[in-house]
Amino acid sequence: VTRTDPSPVRIERDGVVATVVIDRPKALNALSPDVLRAVAGAFDQLAAEGDAVRGVIVVGEGGRAFVAGADIRSLSELTPEEGAEAARLGHRVAAAIEAFPAPVIACVDGFALGGGLELALACDLIYATDASAFGQPEVRLGLIPGFGGTVRLPRAVGLPLAKELIYTGRRIDAAEAERAGLVARRFADREALLAGARATIAEVAENAWTAVALAKRVLVQAAGTPTATASELEVAGFEDAFRTEDMHEGVAAFLEKRDPRFAGR
Ligand code: HXC
Repeated sequence: VTRTDPSPVRIERDGVVATVVIDRPKALNALSPDVLRAVAGAFDQLAAEGDAVRGVIVVGEGGRAFVAGADIRSLSELTPEEGAEAARLGHRVAAAIEAFPAPVIACVDGFALGGGLELALACDLIYATDASAFGQPEVRLGLIPGFGGTVRLPRAVGLPLAKELIYTGRRIDAAEAERAGLVARRFADREALLAGARATIAEVAENAWTAVALAKRVLVQAAGTPTATASELEVAGFEDAFRTEDMHEGVAAFLEKRDPRFAGR
């Protein structure tokens, strides 16, 4: 009898909230190629649900780690070209998260290191418990960040601190990560963390889904582009908002002093 391994990634649903659980606790949820493909697959599957999903939580199983990085074992015997392919796979996951039309919240409880921090950085927000630790330790392995750390960490914390973290490989705790702007909100424990993320998604879900998706599109596309390009992207998104029923409903509801009834189109 052959037994198929249980998937290292599962989706849990609770109303408009979807949770993507990375479930490889024995390896501190390290991102093997299988895990990365499963994470991308989960986002593709959830994207097909349209406005039924108003926000996604990404969380690690086991209580010790969000994700302790790329799977070091699966990197050990790669050729340079295969190494580049491994990095591209991580970037494809980040692209799937950034293309997802609703906010994605990384809920970090424990280690978010290397590819784990990079996965969190691809999400819209990072919420964390006090027991969390963040770092890009790749140089300690003779590597550099490969899933977007050199791209998104400087945007999150500024270039000087990003350089310090990447050159030293040192870890920072949740309090320092919050002060640096990496962590948007800090919680005492995992239960409060998940409740906080669900509350944020519920708050977002009150708004026009179309508008939230347009705002995310503009924020993601404009990141790192020159002011003039970013401004044009914003104008294009603003124009697209006028093409939605939701915009006309939202404005009419305000003028008629009533609550809006958004249709999500
Ligand atoms: C594979 C990992 C792993 C990883 C932990 N494990 N991190 N396996 N890849 N990234 C495994 C350990 O081998 C061990 O397995 C089990 O998880 C528990 O880990 P321990 O080290 O025993 O736990 P502890 O002593 O508490 O230390 C926790 C830790 C440490 C500080 C998080 O595990 C650690 O430093 N991990 C590596 C972190 C790291 O360097 N990440 C960056 C990876 S490179 P066994 O079988 O022994 O129980 C990267 C590059 C991205 O992310 C770009 C690539 C293209």
